Amino acid sequence: MKTRLSLILLLAVLSFLLVVAPASHTQNPQNVEERVNALLAQMTLEEKLGQLQQLDGEGNGNFRPEHLDLIRKGLLGSTLNVRGAQRTNQVQRVAMNESRLKIPVLFGFDVIHGYRTIFPIPLAEAGSWDPALAERSAAVAAQEANNAGLRWTFAPMLDIARDPRWGRITEGAGEDPFLGAAFARARVRGFQGEDYGAADKVLACAKHWVAYGAAEGGRDYNTTDLSENTLREIYFPPFKAAVDAGVGTLMSSFNAINGVPASANRFTLTKVLREEWNFDGFVVSDYTSVRELINHGIAADEEEAAVAALNAGVDMEMVSRSYNTFGRQLLYSNRLSAATIDEAVRRILRIKFRLGLFDRPYTDETREPASLLRPESIRLAREIAGRSMVLLKNDRETLPLSKNAGSIAVIGPLADDRRAPLGWWAGDGKEENTISPLAGIKAKVSAQTRIGYAKGCEVKDESTAGFQEAVNLAKASDVAIVFVGEIADMVGEAASRASLDLPGRQMELVQAIHATGKPTIVVLVNGRPLSVGWIVNNVPAILESWMGGSQSGNAIADILFGDVNPGGKLPVTFPRTVGQVPIYYNHMNTGRPPEAENRYTSKYYDAPWTPLFPFGYGLSYTTFKISNLQLSAPRIGPNGMVTVTVDVENTGKRAGDEVVQLYVRDPVATMTRPVKELKGFQRIALQPGQKSRVGFVLGPEHLAFWNREMRYVVEPGEFRVMVGTNSVDVIEAKFEVTATR
Ligand code: BGC
Repeated sequence: MKTRLSLILLLAVLSFLLVVAPASHTQNPQNVEERVNALLAQMTLEEKLGQLQQLDGEGNGNFRPEHLDLIRKGLLGSTLNVRGAQRTNQVQRVAMNESRLKIPVLFGFDVIHGYRTIFPIPLAEAGSWDPALAERSAAVAAQEANNAGLRWTFAPMLDIARDPRWGRITEGAGEDPFLGAAFARARVRGFQGEDYGAADKVLACAKHWVAYGAAEGGRDYNTTDLSENTLREIYFPPFKAAVDAGVGTLMSSFNAINGVPASANRFTLTKVLREEWNFDGFVVSDYTSVRELINHGIAADEEEAAVAALNAGVDMEMVSRSYNTFGRQLLYSNRLSAATIDEAVRRILRIKFRLGLFDRPYTDETREPASLLRPESIRLAREIAGRSMVLLKNDRETLPLSKNAGSIAVIGPLADDRRAPLGWWAGDGKEENTISPLAGIKAKVSAQTRIGYAKGCEVKDESTAGFQEAVNLAKASDVAIVFVGEIADMVGEAASRASLDLPGRQMELVQAIHATGKPTIVVLVNGRPLSVGWIVNNVPAILESWMGGSQSGNAIADILFGDVNPGGKLPVTFPRTVGQVPIYYNHMNTGRPPEAENRYTSKYYDAPWTPLFPFGYGLSYTTFKISNLQLSAPRIGPNGMVTVTVDVENTGKRAGDEVVQLYVRDPVATMTRPVKELKGFQRIALQPGQKSRVGFVLGPEHLAFWNREMRYVVEPGEFRVMVGTNSVDVIEAKFEVTATR
């Protein structure tokens, strides 16, 4: 075993130097603290507790009459779901003109992947492996939301998800902490910019802190039990990246972590977030998660729930009213301290000042209509959707199709659907602004091409009455494109699935169309990995279109007809069957790694151990070759860096993008380490025949891990470096980290 060498100090210094500069605010920080303290000194206990309260609107963006009354009395600091410039101004006028201290209301909303212009679901966007795109889509979302009176989005959702049964996998960046951290940084920058008080920005909220994605059985809201090492190495990194990028708020999650609910967890909320990461914004609970501490069984009643949450570090309570109802008696019975209440209020006011809310509480109502669905926003939605889609199979160059094809059968329950592409959390997105695949295809093909459409079946029900019409259409056409998958309601919150199969009779529909003998292309419209083995084994071409947003139909047509060459890669492993879950690429080795010929190894009796598609997988209309892997040095010191370079060549006939992926393995360490960990990626565009040299730098932050004593260390010894086009097809080299310089 190697000698262990602790590098904590050095890494601390290094990570300090590497930290992304936090958002700079137009407000002078000293002034902000002075203004906060001056205001705090004037507040009554009730007014303080009021700032800790957030209440939900009435639906459709409306406020509740009760809100105005509470605001007038200084008893409500924030709302969620109330939106529209006129409405938020109406509410704000009450705060600014009729309340004693004129503390502005903070309006929040779930602007997850767009406000009115809807971008692909975040899981899809991660499939672009191009975080700069996520920054741009978040910036459009911020601009639209701000003009609609909002100042705060409950995004980005940063939960690592290794379980596709969990419906909320759709909202995050998938299974990998490195990719997740890159997208976290980008989304925070996109929403907040340099100054979240700017007229086209919003305050971001990193959620759900933390480990919500590890819900047991993939069942939403369920409990989690994870080692501290796993928390720190897998679940924390996207949040750390968001905090380093200056995120102003976090949301505490619904789940329990190792027996302590996340909304009452002092370790995560205070020790890690405040003491280790120096976060000085505020934490909002998830929807009623403070009151839910009673169901978790760590509080007997709402009083105990309030004490547990506030003392742990939840500053604002969403929807339940435990702080407000019981704060006074808890203070006077010494169960809550005045200092704890003041600190929570201080954190919230600090953010309100940084937002410039006191100085600019209103939204210019004239700007809202023109700010929505701008032509450049729509163009960007189309571009990002195209860059997020993943070509899963393309035998015999079935795709792209010719725009001059004689006749095309467009089939399936999702072929002419405008709701599914918007996904879960569709913001204020509207079906009438959404392009269905059928509309996208019609707009793309030549005037002579005949397009027929047959639905075939529904996503959910069991009727096959429409099969015959669909089969007849396929028979009468040159080619069939079948759109199958999930409706929006099947993914997202409270939409965990126990099966990863295509719902309803959709698989049989695909089989019936395939049986016609016509070339058949399947386009998946879905918000999570699906087990579609039969399709993979039988149908020549498959496109993963995800839930691609307002412009999904156009983006699909761009790819099907070759105007866009697909270059996305899966940000999550696709299992063959739900029984393989959890299945993820960066797993630990076992003492008996799977071997085909040896029964007594780690595998299944009745299914392969390999996934349907591995993490990082995706094809193109062209081909690439990665070769000539070189390292700048055969050995480095414990603080050293090594540069990894490869040649990437477009060996096909079309221009296209390749995502070059760098993985690392520490084969012998004091703790079991993953068989592979993503530590670098680059999406590059190459012309046919073009060859380019791509480089990555590996440093201590890519090689370190949390050891048995919970110290972050690089252990000397051999490291393996793998570079490839996905997490399986890689070329390898080695280097050594020495114990001394
Ligand atoms: C979700 C959060 C969301 C909140 C407000 C909760 O149910 O878990 O992600 O931000 O509702 O809509």
